[in-house]
Amino acid sequence: MGSVYRALMIGAGGMAGRWLRRFLTPFYDRVQIVGLCDIDPQILNEQGDWLGLPPEARFTEMEPAFEKTEADCCLIAIPPRFHRQAAELAAHRGMHILSEKPIADTWEDCVAVYKAVQSNGVKMEVVQNYRYSPRIQTLKKYLEAGEIGRLNYIVARFAADYRRRGGWGSPFRHEIRHSLLIEGSVHHFDQIRHLSGADCRWIAGWDWNPNHPAFDGECCGLFVAQMTNGVFAQYEGNCLEGGEENNWHDELYRLEGDQGALSVGRDQRVRLYRHTPGEGLTVRELPNVRMERQGHIELFQQFFDWLDGGPTPPTALEDNIKSAAMLFGAIEASETNTVVDVTAKLRGALG
Ligand SMILES: NC(=O)c1ccc[n+]([C@@H]2O[C@H](COP(=O)([O-])OP(=O)(O)OC[C@H]3O[C@@H](n4cnc5c(N)ncnc54)[C@H](O)[C@@H]3O)[C@@H](O)[C@H]2O)c1
Repeated sequence: MGSVYRALMIGAGGMAGRWLRRFLTPFYDRVQIVGLCDIDPQILNEQGDWLGLPPEARFTEMEPAFEKTEADCCLIAIPPRFHRQAAELAAHRGMHILSEKPIADTWEDCVAVYKAVQSNGVKMEVVQNYRYSPRIQTLKKYLEAGEIGRLNYIVARFAADYRRRGGWGSPFRHEIRHSLLIEGSVHHFDQIRHLSGADCRWIAGWDWNPNHPAFDGECCGLFVAQMTNGVFAQYEGNCLEGGEENNWHDELYRLEGDQGALSVGRDQRVRLYRHTPGEGLTVRELPNVRMERQGHIELFQQFFDWLDGGPTPPTALEDNIKSAAMLFGAIEASETNTVVDVTAKLRGALG
């Protein structure tokens, strides 16, 4: 039996509410929320009451929350703009961190978080829950079993109808710059890294807003990337989908190999396509792998196991900074009309 960790949780509503009431519930024998911070006093008190937290353990500002709370770890589920402040305050107090994606909302802030975590010797894991679904694990299993031969390229598509302001949940998603990329595509870029088994070497493309009133910032994107193992990737992201959606958990992934192809999309069926001379095209539906835990639950399990001395999770900060580099490489590519060398971007920032 591992330790029971004391946690300061930053964020109480939105995704943080789902953490508290859903994803963390199997772990309340391994973690005790000893402090809660949210700028919204109403949601803070609702969740504080639910947790049975005394009033002195509820905070509407981060600084006093960190000053007054003795905790082993910090759980961060607030909008990306505030991730850096929370992560730095935690790291400076020697607290381990589990944070929602993305690491932060600028490359500069991601690098600052990385450095604070490294220099204070704490552990940080970033939530990339989309890796841990049966459809993705099934793709990965058959890819690794060699069913399509050598992977040549990946096509990924995310498309959601957020043409109504507020359609994408919290208002900040409709207000920030590079909304699709920062709030959405970081999951898909991380998935491309996960499926290809490599990091991004180059990225080119654009994100934009065709003057749609639902978004203040860029909400559509088309990108092409090459990974460090030579695999290419094409990514389409659209928050203004008026046709067929590939919304969350319904994203399209197609993996093209030299012996066949694998795909999954809206109908959740993982298919294996092979063309052989004489037989023509065969299409096989593959059984989904069974998973003991999925999504956030798997990530919490990994995090607490890691604190107990278990293995470093696949999306620990050391790895996830590479998904952030792909994300901010994409933004740079779009802003400068250039192909961005993501490997050099990482090397330049982290040494
Ligand atoms: N992994 C996923 O599937 C997934 C899904 C949705 C959101 N997210 C991530 O979760 C995070 C939060 O997103 P959300 O939709 O819950 O946002 P949100 O706007 O609903 O905010 C969540 C909570 O944080 C509080 N908050 C805002 N600023 C704060 C601050 N400075 N200090 C303390 N509390 C603050 C808000 O009052 C709110 O209760 C983001 O990083 C987002 O990318 C992840």
